[in-house]
Amino acid sequence: MGNKGLKRSCVVVAVALLAMVHVSVSVPFIMLHGISAQCSNARDANFTQLLTNLSGSPGFCLEIGNGVGDSWLMPLARQAEIACEKVKQMKELSQGYNIVGRSQGNLVARGLIEFCDGGPPVYNYISLAGPHAGISSVPMCGSGLFCKLADELIKGDIYSDFIQDHLAPSGYLKIPTDMTKYLENSKYLPKLNNEIPNQRNSTYKDRFTSLQNLVLIKFQDDKVIVPKDSSWFGFYPDGEFEPLLSAQQTKLYTEDWIGLKTLDDAGKVKFVSVAGEHIRMADEDVVKHVVPYLQDQPSSVQRVNRKTKQPLHP
Ligand SMILES: *[C@@H]1O[C@H](CO)[C@@H](O)[C@H](O)[C@H]1NC(C)=O
Ligand SMILES: *[C@@H]1O[C@H](CO)[C@@H](O)[C@H](O)[C@H]1NC(C)=O
Ligand SMILES: *[C@@H]1O[C@H](CO)[C@@H](O)[C@H](O)[C@H]1NC(C)=O
Repeated sequence: MGNKGLKRSCVVVAVALLAMVHVSVSVPFIMLHGISAQCSNARDANFTQLLTNLSGSPGFCLEIGNGVGDSWLMPLARQAEIACEKVKQMKELSQGYNIVGRSQGNLVARGLIEFCDGGPPVYNYISLAGPHAGISSVPMCGSGLFCKLADELIKGDIYSDFIQDHLAPSGYLKIPTDMTKYLENSKYLPKLNNEIPNQRNSTYKDRFTSLQNLVLIKFQDDKVIVPKDSSWFGFYPDGEFEPLLSAQQTKLYTEDWIGLKTLDDAGKVKFVSVAGEHIRMADEDVVKHVVPYLQDQPSSVQRVNRKTKQPLHP
C-alpha cells in the first residue's frame, strides 16, 4: 500500500470510529433520593452530577412532591405513582433508562419497575442501601416541623390505616413477630415483594426479571437500614428476629416471588458490599460499582436472534 492509500484507510477508519461514537447514544439515568433528602439539596444534586461527569450519560434527579417533607409523609404507593407519571412525560427517557436509587428511593425505583403501566423500559438498576426486604425499626426523623409529626407517627400503631397513609417508612416496616398484621395491613412492601399468597402478580415478576443488571449495594456500617442485609434482600425469618437469613435463604428467593432467583441464575445480580455508613460511598467505589452500569454497554444495544436469544454478529 502506498503512502496515499495508507492515509486514505486511516481516514476511513477515523470516520468509521466517529460514526460509531455518534451512533451509540448514551442511555440516560434517573436518581431517586432517600428520605430527608431532596433534589435541590447540594448533596443530591452533586451526586447526580458526579455520576453524569463520570459516566458521560445524562442524569436527572427525579423529585417527588415537595422533597424532604413528602419523602417522610407521602405514602410510597403514591410516590411510585407520581414517579411513573413523571418518567412517562420525560421525552429523554422514552427509549428506556437506568435507575440509581438511594435508600428509601429504592422502593420508589422498584415501584417504577414493577407497577408502572406503559412506562419506558428500565435496563440497569443500581441500588444503594435499599431496604428491599423491609426494616425492623424506623429511624427517628429529628428536628423540623414535619419531623415532630413524623416522630409522633413512628410511636403509633404502625400498621393502622392512618399511619400507613401518612408515614412513608411505615410502608416497608416489617416486624417479623407481627407478620399477620404486616401482610394484612401494610400497604406497600407486601405487594412490591409479591408476598401475599393468592395475590401474587406475575406481571410484577416479569417486569423485574426483564432488568439487564441488578446491582445491590450494601453498606458495611449501615445503621439506618436494620438489618443492613435487607439491601441484599436478606431478612429475619417469619416470627423471629434470628437467625438473619441471606437472600438465598428467604422464600422470596427460593420461591422466586419477584424473579430475584431467575435474575441471579442468569448472572444478572451483583451483590456488592462496600465500606462505610448508610449511603456514604467512597468515590472509588462509585467508579467501580455504579458508573460501569451507566455507561454504554454492548449488551444494552446488542441485537439478539429472537428464537435462539444468541447475539447477532455483524
Ligand atoms: C459539590 O461538588 C463540588 C465540586 O466537586 C464541591 O466543591 C462541593 O463541596 C460539593 N458540595 C457538596 C454539598 O457536597
Ligand atoms: C462535574 O464536572 C463539571 C465540569 O467539569 C465541574 O464543574 C463540576 O464540579 C463536576 N461536579 C462534580 C460533582 O463532580
Ligand atoms: C397485575 O398487574 C398488572 C399491571 O399493573 C395489572 O394489569 C393486572 O390487572 C394485575 N393482575 C391481577 C390479577 O391483579
